[in-house]
Amino acid sequence: MSFNIAIDGPAGAGKSTIAKQLAKDLGVVYVDTGAMYRAMAYYFITNSIGEKDIVKIIDACKHVDVTITYENGVQNVWLNGENVSGKIRTEEVGNMASATSVYPVVRNKLVELQQQLAKTTDVIMDGRDIGTVVLPHADVKIYMTASSAIRAKRRFDELTAKGIECDLDDIEKDIIDRDYRDMNRETSPLKKADDAVELDTSNLDIDGVVDAIKEIVAKAQR
Ligand code: DC
Repeated sequence: MSFNIAIDGPAGAGKSTIAKQLAKDLGVVYVDTGAMYRAMAYYFITNSIGEKDIVKIIDACKHVDVTITYENGVQNVWLNGENVSGKIRTEEVGNMASATSVYPVVRNKLVELQQQLAKTTDVIMDGRDIGTVVLPHADVKIYMTASSAIRAKRRFDELTAKGIECDLDDIEKDIIDRDYRDMNRETSPLKKADDAVELDTSNLDIDGVVDAIKEIVAKAQR
């Protein structure tokens, strides 16, 4: 049986940074499920499919192929045979992913892929519905939060470091909109699983959060 760690939480709570570090330290595979929703969103954008165009979205889900590979522990996302990992990290793609992840047809397709990965491999998987829907029997569940102001500042610093011009207030507004949509959609909304441990990362550094989760993992392995 594989050992599974589920991490859920809103955009910018630090899930991927923490999960990547933990995957390295614990020798497990990091599965970034947001990247899968982003790959689908990238397909919709590049094929001029609008976020409300449900007929085209349903049709696309039938023939769009999303797969994941790992190279030296780094996840690559492939869309119909093209590696799109470098193209999906924009705000536009993130917002489209949030808007189109409300549809069960999109979710079912990706949840199946996520469950297959976790069945055979020890994983740390992050997303919005991992502890509640994708891996309800995960060995460890973490719900990571931080204030919207702190999350916006982190995202601002990340984009600025990449040389991308952006506005802090716009980013915070986007984050608040995205939280609302992710938490209030009908299918698999973002929420803390009953048995998840909640960690507020607003005032913790990365090492502090990583250490806190390692302790929880160690307890679960005893
Ligand atoms: O984690 P992220 O910002 O890369 O995710 C982009 C969007 O994808 C997010 O706003 C909602 C959606 N998503 C989801 O609905 N379920 C997941 N497990 C992961 C992401």
